[in-house]
Amino acid sequence: MERNERFVKATYEIMEQLLNVDDLDDALSGSLQRIVKTLDSEAGAIWYLDEKSDRLHSVFHIGPADISNYSIENGIGIEGVVTKTGKSIMITDPANDPRFEPTVFDGQGLKTTSMICVPLNNGHDTIGCVQIINKKNGSLYDEEELELCEHMAALAAITIEEKGLIVDFGEEKDVLCELIDVVKDYPSGDGVLRVLKGINLKVYEGEFVVVLGESGCGKSTMMNIIGGMDYLTDGKLLIEGRDFSKPDDEELTRFRREYLGFIFQSYNLMPNLTALENVQFIAEIVNDPIEAKQAIAKVGLSDRENNYPAQLSGGQQQRVSIARAIVKNPRLILADEPTAALDLNTSIEVLSVIRDIVRNNNTTVMMVTHNAEIGKLADRIVRVQNGRIASIKRNLHPLAPEELSW
Ligand SMILES: Nc1ncnc2c1ncn2[C@@H]1O[C@H](COP(=O)(O)OP(=O)(O)O)[C@@H](O)[C@H]1O
Ligand SMILES: [Mg+2]
Repeated sequence: MERNERFVKATYEIMEQLLNVDDLDDALSGSLQRIVKTLDSEAGAIWYLDEKSDRLHSVFHIGPADISNYSIENGIGIEGVVTKTGKSIMITDPANDPRFEPTVFDGQGLKTTSMICVPLNNGHDTIGCVQIINKKNGSLYDEEELELCEHMAALAAITIEEKGLIVDFGEEKDVLCELIDVVKDYPSGDGVLRVLKGINLKVYEGEFVVVLGESGCGKSTMMNIIGGMDYLTDGKLLIEGRDFSKPDDEELTRFRREYLGFIFQSYNLMPNLTALENVQFIAEIVNDPIEAKQAIAKVGLSDRENNYPAQLSGGQQQRVSIARAIVKNPRLILADEPTAALDLNTSIEVLSVIRDIVRNNNTTVMMVTHNAEIGKLADRIVRVQNGRIASIKRNLHPLAPEELSW
């Protein structure tokens, strides 16, 4: 297809997406996706200006680095200058461009060679910017491409204005756990199967992050590496700044056991113990548990605490396994497809319990699922594709579990 034709088509599609929006977040992230693809770029981001703090927040991004939850001062760096002045910047030689300071993308696995950054202007205010980084083929951006980005940003800004976007960015959160360039190989025949191909991801305190991706893309492998059930081949895993990249010693194993709670698709309850005893059993082997009865109450099963697993439904058994995870009073709960075996209504019950744990206890939950609908609950949605992080979206308007359906 002719370049011109491709650009017209992209503009049309973006317009379509933005003008018929149900979900503004989806429309904006979809538009970013479209423009990154049309311009064959390595990365892209949408930044919003928070007037209260006068800082720019990365709300959607695509590319190898995890910059979600990242913020920078208005007026600083390319993104800040574009937002402050309301004027586009195109950089084709960052090494020799005085406006360019190493930005968030440099040092996080992406060396900037060429960049377009355009303001989100809604006619009277600049409310942020859109940024596209590095052509995949190594060539530089040109004026026509800049213009396409400006069209897209103008459309986006107007849509945001019409929809009355209100965002409370809150305080910047602490990082609990970080994967840096994580690679995982499994032996396969004579060679190796590379399952994770350089994962960069931060998990923040008190957030509900959902990891989506098709079966076999590496979600469980990533989760298991964080949980210490598997080891990375290359790269780094930090939990609270401590390096867990090498096989555990005893002290680290103990720390991780107390720090993390696990929930799996299968409930793994002991059949000869009651619901309460299943939870007490775990409470007895950790340092700082909450009361087992309290954990059972939090998952709404006080009236069934003396039942054996076989006397409970699937959803109730899963709630016992959630109680077993929270009784440790963990900082981070890892949940791998916790509702995969449950029907919709039971899933909603279980997801409500998990969501309440995040909201009421400030416990961080990282949940893996192949069901994209479940992503709508999350604070952040991480998409994994073929061993890489395809995109990370900050979900500005999480739904309540009752609003889900599939
Ligand atoms: N222990 C293992 N040995 C060899 N290959 C594995 C092992 N575990 C997972 N894999 C392979 O790694 C890929 C990713 O698996 P997984 O992380 O379980 O994906 P997901 O959870 O996204 O469905 C799959 O191709 C799977 O077959
Ligand atoms: Mg899996």
